[in-house]
Amino acid sequence: MLIEPKITAAFDPYAIRDEFPILSRQVNGNPLVYLDNAASAQKPRAVVQAMVNALEGGYSNVHRGLHTLANETTDAFEAARDSVARFINAAPTEIVFTKGATEAINLVASSFGLSLKAGDEIVISEGEHHANYIPWHFLRERQGVVIKFIPVLDDGSLDLDAYRKLLTPKTRMVAVTHMSNVTGAVTDTQAIVEGARSVGARVLLDGAQSVVHQPIDVKALGCDFFVFSAHKLYGPTGIGVLWGRPEALEALPPYQGGGEMISWVALDAVAYADPPHRFEAGTPPIVQAIGLGAACEWLNGIDRAAAAAHEHALYKRALERLEGHNWFKLIGDALGKGAIMAFAVEGAHAHDVAQLLDKYGVAVRAGTHCAEPLMRRFGMASSARASFALYNTLEEADAFADSLIKVQGFFS
Ligand code: ALA
Repeated sequence: MLIEPKITAAFDPYAIRDEFPILSRQVNGNPLVYLDNAASAQKPRAVVQAMVNALEGGYSNVHRGLHTLANETTDAFEAARDSVARFINAAPTEIVFTKGATEAINLVASSFGLSLKAGDEIVISEGEHHANYIPWHFLRERQGVVIKFIPVLDDGSLDLDAYRKLLTPKTRMVAVTHMSNVTGAVTDTQAIVEGARSVGARVLLDGAQSVVHQPIDVKALGCDFFVFSAHKLYGPTGIGVLWGRPEALEALPPYQGGGEMISWVALDAVAYADPPHRFEAGTPPIVQAIGLGAACEWLNGIDRAAAAAHEHALYKRALERLEGHNWFKLIGDALGKGAIMAFAVEGAHAHDVAQLLDKYGVAVRAGTHCAEPLMRRFGMASSARASFALYNTLEEADAFADSLIKVQGFFS
């Protein structure tokens, strides 16, 4: 069930669409209706232009050079870190650039995992994206660490009573999604953090979806680590963020070794740099970081509450058109969920549904959404998923519903 956010200002998705040239293209003879935003969102001109400017106007490697281009690029790269920090209410030194949310979780699991011994416990949920399961599984497989799973309730939310019972003095880390990429359910972070603190465990939140749909204040969340990718946030691929509370980052040993992550190197000893550079070995994704910074600045110029209200209106419109049909099965209707609609069409395979929708120009995802245990939890091998972005319109929500009704007709 949705909580309808209050619209705080006029929000014009048509003006925003003008900033995304790709949205005016045709697909299979129909106007594109792009509803695969939870997999990867389209990029506004501001992001593309920032990256073009960096490449055409002032590109070099960062942190190493003494010449003008190196200094300009270093300034632009660090300005991007500042923008990301402002975007989530953090300090720049708390922002580690990674390849994406996946690499950020692998970094924490690998480095934090060095302090774990057989029998230590990690708590995740059965609703996690594989990116927030497999890195912990490595520790189970290689070091005998125990993984405990918070059950997912029928509405997609986490069973917090069961969660509290999973916690023991051996719990070292609680790592959960902040917003499910399948059900859209938003995690009660206060309950998660309170539980973890009661046993002295660290908390990691996978914010890959939540950062897109709601303003994030990492200090208010109270977690130790928060991760997200740029490409779902209207930014480029190949760059993501690990935010860490200063003492939590400081306690982590380096993840990868190489240039730029050291303070000095001798033949018999090495001293590591302070965070965030300790975790950024090698040449970083410079242009991508600049693109991510531009995406954060672009979003800072938008009324996020109004954007969230708009996305919810689109979700609600599509749901109103579809929920009366007995063949339409929604997965997850948790209170306050994000504008992500995973569903099954009775009698049709999700892949067929997605391919037929594509014939009408409607792009949705189908499969397990990298969350196979969650699909099993709902008794499904796969599902289709429409995910809404701030540039989608009510006409597109209608086009999606109309197309899905036509597609279902092929199976009845
Ligand atoms: N993690 C992305 C998704 O949920 C790819 O679709």
